[in-house]
Amino acid sequence: MTTPLQVTRELFDDVMVPNYAPAGIIPVKGKSSRVWDQQGREYIDFAGGIAVSSLGHCHPALVKAIQQQAEQLWHLSNVMTNEPALRLAKKLVDATFAEKVYFANSGAEANEAAFKLARRWALDKFGAEKDQIISFSKSFHGRTFFTVTVGGQAAYSDGFGPKPGAVLHAEFNNLASVKALISEHTCAVVLEPIQGEGGIIPATTEFMQGVRELCNQHNALLIMDEVQTGVGRTGKLYAYMHYGVTPDILTTAKSLGGGFPIGAMLTTTDIASHLKVGTHGSTYGGNPLACAVAEAVLDTVNQPNVMAQVLSNEQLFRQQLKAINEKYQVFSEIRGQGMLLGAVLNNQYKGRAREFFLASAEQGLMALVAGVDVVRFAPSLVITPDEITAGMQRFEQAVKQVIGV
Ligand SMILES: Cc1ncc(COP(=O)(O)O)c(C=O)c1O
Repeated sequence: MTTPLQVTRELFDDVMVPNYAPAGIIPVKGKSSRVWDQQGREYIDFAGGIAVSSLGHCHPALVKAIQQQAEQLWHLSNVMTNEPALRLAKKLVDATFAEKVYFANSGAEANEAAFKLARRWALDKFGAEKDQIISFSKSFHGRTFFTVTVGGQAAYSDGFGPKPGAVLHAEFNNLASVKALISEHTCAVVLEPIQGEGGIIPATTEFMQGVRELCNQHNALLIMDEVQTGVGRTGKLYAYMHYGVTPDILTTAKSLGGGFPIGAMLTTTDIASHLKVGTHGSTYGGNPLACAVAEAVLDTVNQPNVMAQVLSNEQLFRQQLKAINEKYQVFSEIRGQGMLLGAVLNNQYKGRAREFFLASAEQGLMALVAGVDVVRFAPSLVITPDEITAGMQRFEQAVKQVIGV
């Protein structure tokens, strides 16, 4: 008889590629907005697996959906279509500007599809000279080589040899910088309505509307990366709905699967027609298990009471963070929207976000950082007021720990 394997954090260093530096604990169980580690220690989850667990852990509707589908059909590939994928696509189309959906497995893959589609659309319609993609400094679009190149953080794309070309970077919320770069050579401008990894920086309405206008003037597509902001996180199904601006292509992932890997690219019939048979694909895209879970997420989240809860939760977060800040003066600003909030460290604590994150974990709270100056919160959309208050009590302890009072 073989002895059962002891799974410890040390095993990570033995057997895993060292591109991550995970925390010392290993969580083994989750329920709603609480998580327990191997030792039975409980954590309150304000991180949501980086804006993914839109309905918390093991939500009954999602457990039911995956159990039912697991007994029905797991996988086919795109040689055939399947019922959950078609139901989910129809619901996404009905709920948004989009007329067509492409399924992928992650945010990066959804963006990869979006960028390839924009290039193909421009090539077909205007010729090879129209190939430039404009994105923004500090933006983040995923870790494939194309998406990381489009992203605005060279640290992530440097060191891998020659990058895909014709990618330009403007300054976020600076329309003049877009005007300076956009031309008849631009095929697309891509932006996040709220820059997530870049530090929870919301696009201003003026900027968003201005970029739309510039895209119209130069026959360029507007791609909105809603991988982090999508599926109710900002209090509307997609963040573009706050701005009165409609994208040509939208990408969504993270919260869409509520913890099951899925991504999607949404667009119009006209634009979609340029990804003809054989131009792009994925073995797993539109997998029945993923789509069954995402359908249950969408059915549950896209309800007026849930959207209202996201906004009332935001108010509670803001009130409690403000109260902490009145006592300890650590933040200069709380920014973001809905359940995607950033507490920006003031000059005294600049650069020390990771310390707040580590202290939070010690106090039994899962938080996140967004860059070195921002403590980020991206919890379940349906986190309860009691869970918020309990988590904030732990966060206050973490703040005290860091500042030494
Ligand atoms: C805005 C945005 N786009 C794309 C991605 C990449 O998504 P994934 O990690 O699922 O590939 C992320 C991930 O953080 C993101 O925040």
